[in-house]
Amino acid sequence: MATLDRGNFNSRLGFVLAAAGSAIGLGNIWRFPYTAGTYGGGAWVLMYIFFVVVIGVPVMFAELSIGNHTQASPVTAFKKLVPGSWWPYLGALGVVTGFGILSFYSVIAGLTVVYAGFALAGRFSGGLDIAQSGMIFTDITADPVWMIGVAAFFLLITALVVRKGVGGGIEKAATFLMPVLFVFLLILVGRALTLPTAGEGLAFMFQPHLDEITFAGTVSALGQALFSLSLGMGAMITYGSYLDRDENLPASAITIAVFDTSIAILAGLVIFPALFLVGAEATAGPGLIFVVMGGIFDAMPASNVMAFIFYGLLSIAALTSTISLLEVIVAYFVDEKGWMREKATWVVAGACFALAVPSALSLGASETLTGLGEGRGFLGFVDLFCGTYFLTIGAMLISFFVGWRWGVPAAVAAIERGGHKMPVAAAWGFLVRYVCPLAILILLFYGATQGANW
Ligand code: TRP
Repeated sequence: MATLDRGNFNSRLGFVLAAAGSAIGLGNIWRFPYTAGTYGGGAWVLMYIFFVVVIGVPVMFAELSIGNHTQASPVTAFKKLVPGSWWPYLGALGVVTGFGILSFYSVIAGLTVVYAGFALAGRFSGGLDIAQSGMIFTDITADPVWMIGVAAFFLLITALVVRKGVGGGIEKAATFLMPVLFVFLLILVGRALTLPTAGEGLAFMFQPHLDEITFAGTVSALGQALFSLSLGMGAMITYGSYLDRDENLPASAITIAVFDTSIAILAGLVIFPALFLVGAEATAGPGLIFVVMGGIFDAMPASNVMAFIFYGLLSIAALTSTISLLEVIVAYFVDEKGWMREKATWVVAGACFALAVPSALSLGASETLTGLGEGRGFLGFVDLFCGTYFLTIGAMLISFFVGWRWGVPAAVAAIERGGHKMPVAAAWGFLVRYVCPLAILILLFYGATQGANW
């Protein structure tokens, strides 16, 4: 079996670092609030948290055990575990999914860099209202050259890191910067919760209106739980394979889930009060944070400094996520096709750029692409398919695989290899065998028969 030309993460740097860097990103701060807003708030947020616990964490253990046991990237891992079967195609589905996610993710990540630049240029001051901040967003997203340019820029930076290996500066920086992001979010929460619109924001976010629960909303809450934890496409299989034997895997997995979910909730606590402050629509879609965050900064001293710190940290959080997405795809070509890492990196990044172009044009620049898919736009459409449906199907099959094909005892043994006991192993076995695959199957079946309504 070909050994993976990993060379990117120093195992010394540890797993929590790499995996937390992958998990924490635009999913928490950009995707969580806009999707919560789209599906009505309260009930959706509760479903998201429920799915993190009941499906996300079990699938995280499933992926990590596969990766840690096989020490291989997804396709190779399945080949090792069940040679001659069709399971490696599940790894291939993950590669396709990651490719799709990386393409639109780069566009939004590029926007965060632009917004950091806007802060440097002093654009977040002087009574920024919804009209103004909406205008900034409309202007930039209508500009094809900027939009394509910044997506290309972000993919380029990602490729440079993945090609060179991320063991050095960037990962060290991320360890330090993710806690900084956390603390900085706490400061913003402090401001948001003292705004006159705090009550409205909190009510929107936490008051469940059960009649608003729809099939599309339920699946999207599940998709968000998986997306935010980087699950369902093999990223955690890959990271599990980087694990040191003496790493405390169960504790690390739970730490990551708690940290990741807290960041999403904190982002919501900032964005929903701001939403009512500036008078934006919760259903604004992918532009939501870009439009409403200006209101928070403007309500603070040194608004441009605040905005710069926020968008700067967000860009770095996004970078550690795009690295993980590109890494999984590159690992596939290196491991399975025998490509050199350098070649794989540039070919994949280049192809991904081609798919990023229509996404970049679909936030305003091209009318056709912006209006596609019932107004979701091309970006929203790729997000829905790769970020929700494919991740969901991937998670269903991964849990089915561990529960029924590979077997819970083997998986638990893999997790406990480092000498740390897996807590509630029996409950995990039950979740991974019955609850995860069945719940997802029922959801998807219901969608197929009742009409998905997306
Ligand atoms: N979890 C990241 C975020 O929340 C995005 C991400 C990185 C991802 N790698 C992934 C999502 C793998 C799904 C699968 O921003």
